[in-house]
This record gives sequence, structure tokens and C-alpha cells, in this order.
Amino acid sequence: MKGREGEHLKILLRHGAIQKRVRGVAKEIARDFRGERVHLIGVLKGACIFLSDLVREMDLETSIDFMAVASYGKGKETSGQVRLNKDLDSSIEGLNVVLVEDILDTGLTLSYLCRVLQQRKPKILKIAALLDKPSRRIQDIKADYVGFTIPNEFVVGYGLDYGERYRNLKDVCVLTLPPE
Ligand code: IMP
Ligand code: MG
Repeated sequence: MKGREGEHLKILLRHGAIQKRVRGVAKEIARDFRGERVHLIGVLKGACIFLSDLVREMDLETSIDFMAVASYGKGKETSGQVRLNKDLDSSIEGLNVVLVEDILDTGLTLSYLCRVLQQRKPKILKIAALLDKPSRRIQDIKADYVGFTIPNEFVVGYGLDYGERYRNLKDVCVLTLPPE
């Protein structure tokens, strides 16, 4: 797919490699929770594609729910503020929860969500992030399951967007914008 108006897309992670790694992450989770039920919570909208591939690779009893937060707005830079736009449908008290996120960047979103979710007394709370950009971290937070560690580049595809576009790309691509 071509980028819009001089926006340039360069493949960073191919669909096949993503699928393979998602199976690996699903195996890691299944191994850690063998014989138990896992409640996956997807962070909308970015994580929806990762979550839907991940849950289908998991050989466990599962349930899913979603939360929506806003942190990035329309551009590339984080606002530093996180707002809860959609809460969970049901209680997570006593559940094995895996919070599923598209990308761990500054860590502001996930540390906010973990604080909110811990107050609701899950049995355990783990984090699965498809992508991790450790060089950007502001909040000291680590994912328990990481698909790929990537350099400090703005990426789109496989659920990740730029101004709501490019979520449908099968590959994860680095996006470069035309000079202003
Ligand atoms: P954090 O709060 O800075 O860790 O950022 C988390 C959110 O910012 C992610 O859920 C994404 O929605 C967005 N984000 C961070 N980096 C990227 C990127 O490279 N491409 C697209 N969205 C990103
Ligand atoms: Mg997101």
C-alpha cells in the first residue's frame, strides 16, 4: 500500500513474522497459565488486531473485554495525559488478567491502566505488548510478554494508526512524513 500525500511506508515487520511471533506469545501465556482461565483485556483501538490473532492461538479457556483510552490525539506526539473513554463490561476481581496493548512507548498509558485495574483486585495482572520501544520510556514499566522490541521510529499497521489511518496494513511499517 502507498502512503498518502508523500507519506512514506517502509516495512519493518512482515505479516508472516508477526503471525509466527504472535503464536509464540500465545504459547508463553498458555504455559504460564496452564489449566486456568485467562481474561484478555484489549486496549482499543490499536490492540484489536493483535488481540484477535492472539486469542485464536491460545490453547486455554479465555474470555475477552476491551477498554478505550485516548493519549495520542491525532498526531505522533503523546499528550502525556490519558483519558478513559470506555470502561470494562464486567468485574475482573479474582481473574487472571492479561492486558493486551499494541505498543509500549512512553509507558504512560499502560501505567495508568495498570493502576486502574489493580484497584479492582484481579488475581494476577500481566501485560502483553506486540511492540516495545524501550528507548522512549518515561514511566518505569515492563511488559511480561513482548512481541518485538523496535527502535524509536513511528510505526503503523497491524492495528497501529496515524490519524486513524493504516490500521488495516498487514505488515508493521515505519511511517515517514513529508517535510512541512
Ligand atoms: P504510551 O502511553 O506512550 O506508552 O503510548 C501508548 C500509545 O501511543 C499506544 O497505544 C499507541 O496508540 C500510541 N503509539 C505509541 N507509539 C506509536 C507508534 O509508533 N505508532 C502508532 N501509535 C503509537
Ligand atoms: Mg493504542
